Amino acid sequence: MTPPAATTDATPVVAAADRFRSDSFPLIFERSSPGRRAARPPVTDGDDMATLLGEEHLREAPPRLPEVAELDLVRHYTQLAHRQFSIDGNVYPLGSCTMKYNPKLHEDVAERFLDLHPYQDEEGAQGILELLFEVQRDLAQITGMDDVSLQPAAGAHGELAGILMIRAYHMANGEGELRRVVICPDGAHGTNPATAAMAGYEVVEVPTGPDGEVDVDAFRAALGPHVAAVMLTNPNTLGIFETRILEISRLAHEVGAQLYYDGANLNAIVGRARPGDMGFDVVHLNLHKTFTTPHGGGGPGTGPVGVKAHLAPFLPVPRIVRSGAGYTIEGERAHSIGRLRSFYGNVGNLVRAWAYIRRLGLVGLKRVSTMAVLNANYLRVRMREAGYTIAFDRVNMHEFVAQPPAGTKTLDVAKAMLDYGVHPMTVYFPLVVREAMMVEPTETESLETLDAYAAVLGEILERTAKDPEWISRAPTTTPVGRVDEVRAARKPVLRHEFSD
Ligand SMILES: Cc1ncc(COP(=O)(O)O)c(C=O)c1O
Repeated sequence: MTPPAATTDATPVVAAADRFRSDSFPLIFERSSPGRRAARPPVTDGDDMATLLGEEHLREAPPRLPEVAELDLVRHYTQLAHRQFSIDGNVYPLGSCTMKYNPKLHEDVAERFLDLHPYQDEEGAQGILELLFEVQRDLAQITGMDDVSLQPAAGAHGELAGILMIRAYHMANGEGELRRVVICPDGAHGTNPATAAMAGYEVVEVPTGPDGEVDVDAFRAALGPHVAAVMLTNPNTLGIFETRILEISRLAHEVGAQLYYDGANLNAIVGRARPGDMGFDVVHLNLHKTFTTPHGGGGPGTGPVGVKAHLAPFLPVPRIVRSGAGYTIEGERAHSIGRLRSFYGNVGNLVRAWAYIRRLGLVGLKRVSTMAVLNANYLRVRMREAGYTIAFDRVNMHEFVAQPPAGTKTLDVAKAMLDYGVHPMTVYFPLVVREAMMVEPTETESLETLDAYAAVLGEILERTAKDPEWISRAPTTTPVGRVDEVRAARKPVLRHEFSD
């Protein structure tokens, strides 16, 4: 979509009469009018910016920011927010991404720590240090690991930390040069091979077998003394539990490889099974997936990483450790892979995760995985009844992969769903399933919502059978309809063009 030509002068691009129409949505620059301000810096009488800031800090030309009054600004972003699809607004069953509800109580708890400053002295920050220590300890217990770092800022960041620790471990054992391969299944999330490649490894892919699990014969054949690590998630990205995980971990360890657990799917097993007990040496967790913190790729994300004792010396710093009757920040560690981000991790999210774990306890956490699996299996059957094919149709865990009937495209179904006010599932992932629709309702959706979702999917196929053309026009009720996806990918419009 080409945005309308923009201007920063007083001439509005949007005709006055169209300004309030919900289908005309000007850019903030198009609301701009010279001299308007939402806020003014506190300049006291007689002072100007040069006096306040110092001549050397002044810009040569003013920034080209939109100039709007506070009310226009508020309306602009409020209207934008209303156009957002969010878990607070409606069902959002993205497979793998796990869009589960973020309870508001956790926001309240997190807000109580807003006044703390990262440079606050330890003595005055014992409360938050204790809380962070408890999160480290709880996550270690939940995953069956010996130690945890809260540093990484996203799942993918946790992966990087984990693989760097594995690399450091092999180097410390004099095997850094020998072990140059990381094995990933062909259904792996893209961040797994990307992480391995970023850490300097060659990636070897192993295929999925006809039962949806890792093909163990192919896996065995790929193993050898050159393998540094095996990255897996269990249940895997098809939502299927790897029933031969103990054999896989034995085989990997027999050749000296380390087993990495991508914790994206932990909500399927939390409270019932632990990666550490399956033989994994490292695990990252996406706190937004299992522990209800807000989503955010790399932004407000949090991806703690846990390790078995032999990898603990390599954990990132800083870490929260016990010191006498209190807690202290360990800033250095002899063999640490170092710092991954500023300060102590994404503390606001860690507080939210702490609140969740404390509220649920072990009994509640078990119920999380029970409901995640129950909901997904219920929806799997309902989608089958609605006319979709289920890839690897067997009892699954927290998510499953479906396909539309032959002749119907997943993308079209996904677009049509928007007209019903529901968010599509993850589409075209994992790559091992043609026209994949990966559905993860999560544990937080009700039976009525699951029924309604299945009904939408059924109705889309019924309408398509009667009028095959309509689906290619959908969505027609959203602020933006079908966009030219190829053009958007090849020639994205990523910046505002000023008219002068
Ligand atoms: C299986 C899997 N691994 C890793 C990631 C990466 O996590 P993040 O988005 O927190 O970086 C995801 C994200 O959806 C995922 O689904």
